[in-house]
Amino acid sequence: MLVSKNLAVNESGHLTVGGVDTVSLAKQYGTPLYVMDEGLIREHCRSFKASMDRYYGGEGLVCYASKAFCCKAMCKIMLDEGMGLDVVSEGELYTALSVGFPAERICFHGNNKTDRELSYAVESGVGRIIVDNIFELERLDRIAAEKGVKARIMFRIKPGIDAHTHNFVMTGQIDSKFGFALETGEAFEAVRKAISCENIELAGLHCHIGSQIFDIDPFVKAAEVMLGLISQIKDELGYEVKELNLGGGFGIRYTEEDCPVEYDRYMETVSAKVKEVCAEKGLRLPYILIEPGRSVAAPAGITLYTVGGRKVIPNIRTYLSVDGGMCDNPRYALYQSKYDIEIANKASLPKSDTVTVAGKCCETGDLIGEAMPVQPAEPGDILAVLATGAYNYSMSSNYNRIPKPAVVMVKDGDSRIVVKRETLEDIIRNDIE
Ligand code: LLP
Repeated sequence: MLVSKNLAVNESGHLTVGGVDTVSLAKQYGTPLYVMDEGLIREHCRSFKASMDRYYGGEGLVCYASKAFCCKAMCKIMLDEGMGLDVVSEGELYTALSVGFPAERICFHGNNKTDRELSYAVESGVGRIIVDNIFELERLDRIAAEKGVKARIMFRIKPGIDAHTHNFVMTGQIDSKFGFALETGEAFEAVRKAISCENIELAGLHCHIGSQIFDIDPFVKAAEVMLGLISQIKDELGYEVKELNLGGGFGIRYTEEDCPVEYDRYMETVSAKVKEVCAEKGLRLPYILIEPGRSVAAPAGITLYTVGGRKVIPNIRTYLSVDGGMCDNPRYALYQSKYDIEIANKASLPKSDTVTVAGKCCETGDLIGEAMPVQPAEPGDILAVLATGAYNYSMSSNYNRIPKPAVVMVKDGDSRIVVKRETLEDIIRNDIE
């Protein structure tokens, strides 16, 4: 069973993605190569939006978290699909605006936005700046005043939910660099202050409880906690917060150990809770925003490498070396993330070998994975790592001065380059002798 539904094996025994032969892609564009399936990306956008329509009457905005995978083509797809966008730096904002993405559908995040970034966001008319701390609120109020406009903001709140334990708990998360704490009263005081700021319009509250979460309960609990704060604000400050941004974090299947929840179930359960709590507390239903990143992009992507060598260390392990590594996918080195792999040109054979896939960086920890079942491989074979569409290209580096791979988008049986492969010239482009 292949982890993503856009993957298959054709009559030549080759792995296909979105119906396109990956061995041909490797031949045509070279390796390492990121391949993204536009059809699946669009399908994900549509299913998130359909759930929002079905369960919440469309009274919300699905914002793709562009940190997962950002380039002009991706922003253009999000524009076409009528999505909102979450950006977290001037670089992501610049990319989005460069394809004509409407600024009012952008949420600008970050725990330490510079004055330049805040000015850029205000000048561009970003619809929601997610303010992280009180210093940022003060700076933004001043910047907006200088420009003679009102900045539309949300506050990032730490709802005190740790979704990354087996059974999620409601403690601990006070220790996070992001946002305002709830239990200390810090969040409430920030709201009080924002309401009095001349050049600030407090549109809503935001929370994001983590990433790659498989449980619905922590999301439901977070919605409840946030509505509690909205209710307190209404009762004690007489201010009606209109919008609630519940962040991203929906888990996806990297290997068959992962059992993600369908987005539909998430929206259904969370919408029901929001409606219930609002009715109970006499609140108007807030406009809801969600920010899926991984779940939009990850299953749509794979990475293709060429196998360089196979090193057997008797009774210890077998290494397969590939022509990329932690420079294009740092997730194993950082988080011991698990992936499935296939030998793309032998995908119909049984996975009778077990290997450690090593990259080409000068670093022992430069691995794509360990104890990975795979078809018997030899030098020259094409190795595919699956579900790499999120946080791979976006977290890539030029460690060891290795040029970044190209990104190819497949759609309706065709392929096109959306990010060119870096050249050696690119590597020294900013160097001055
Ligand atoms: N909204 C906010 C405010 C976020 O901080 C994030 C992710 C998202 C939305 C999107 O979350 P997603 O739906 O993609 O889980 N580099 C890590 C993931 C870091 C996520 C950071 N924030 C990884 O490779 O797993």
